[in-house]
Amino acid sequence: MPCQNEPMIETLRSVIRFRPVELDGTVRRLSRAANIEDLRRLAKRRLPAGVFDYIDGAAEDERTLADNTEAFARYSFVPRVLRDVSEVDTSTSLFGKPLPLPLVLSPTGFSRIADPQGELAVARAARRAGLPYTLSTMATRSIEEVRAVSEGDLWFQVYVWRDRGLVRDMLARAAAAGYSTIAITVDTAVLGRRERDVRRGFSLPPKIGLDTIIEGIRKPAWTAAFMRSEPIRFANMSGRGAEDGANTAVNLSEYINSQFDPSLSWADIDWFRAQWPGKVVIKGIQSVADARIAVDHGVDAIALSNHGGRQLDGAPAPIDLVAPVADAVGGRVAILCDGGVRRGSDIVKAVALGADACMIGRSYLYALGAGGERGVDQALRLLAEGMRRTMALSGVTSVKELDRDLLAPTPSR
Ligand code: GLV
Repeated sequence: MPCQNEPMIETLRSVIRFRPVELDGTVRRLSRAANIEDLRRLAKRRLPAGVFDYIDGAAEDERTLADNTEAFARYSFVPRVLRDVSEVDTSTSLFGKPLPLPLVLSPTGFSRIADPQGELAVARAARRAGLPYTLSTMATRSIEEVRAVSEGDLWFQVYVWRDRGLVRDMLARAAAAGYSTIAITVDTAVLGRRERDVRRGFSLPPKIGLDTIIEGIRKPAWTAAFMRSEPIRFANMSGRGAEDGANTAVNLSEYINSQFDPSLSWADIDWFRAQWPGKVVIKGIQSVADARIAVDHGVDAIALSNHGGRQLDGAPAPIDLVAPVADAVGGRVAILCDGGVRRGSDIVKAVALGADACMIGRSYLYALGAGGERGVDQALRLLAEGMRRTMALSGVTSVKELDRDLLAPTPSR
């Protein structure tokens, strides 16, 4: 007997298209992320609160953290139309090497707390995207482990230890492993006060207390992956006489304040220049005056950065420094802009103001927490597509056409 509902089902079928059910949870999750902020929300859902706050948080009242992203909104586009944007080319070059878009992955410590693959996942995703990846001194995978998974352009970030022997040793290892560039971080004479971490008693590796156990139960996927993976340690320090976190959990601020050298000065930059055969980036420049001094010390690039708002709360947003610094030293040194980059349009703005490239940290860490290596692929794709779309909608077809005529201050409301 024909089913009475048949005509209705037929009618429904003609108007509704069913989406195939996606069985892979990561793909399903990532397919719902339209932008970096969505990846951040996914990471917040998946990661224990202490881990998420370590990544997401910043110094004191987090004013600089907020301003780093908000500052981009102070620049609006002056779009041009009818300019044949059928071919838009986002490629550029940095240090004489081609880049598919003006973007470098910043160093971030302890990436394995976001995903067990940590730095390996990020390095592989960066290589696939053709972008340089900067490995942190405080990484949870070593210089050599990262090189073993990536033939791409690798940079090494240097914190200056009181023990210069350790620094010299790391530089020699990075050179032997074919890293092209060092980025010397100069904004961390002492550690900024990240109050979310203070409240949570955050340590590395995360210490187990009642709150950790409750969080572990609330975030079972992260907990299962964390329990299955090998212990987290500061991989670059392992076996080299410095505490590597393998046996004792480390309180970051005590560790950094006891190990890093607060007497670091411009003379040390000359020491690095003499030690390192490759390119030298000085990361953490926050004024025009220091940009000029950096150039006098022969560095190859300056990274305008306030460490993602994690050091001095009240430091200026890097995007606001790009134009004055480019006016002062542009052409003599490459200018990188690190902090608050969440969209391809942010990269367009930075380059239009005079930057050679942007750097991203949290944007890929959120993605790593949201969906591991595939999450990072997605973040890099979102930024690349966003840059291409912004250029097309602004009537620009190549990076060299990006200039200040494309931008105007956003009217205040
Ligand atoms: C390390 O560099 C951090 O910002 O936590």
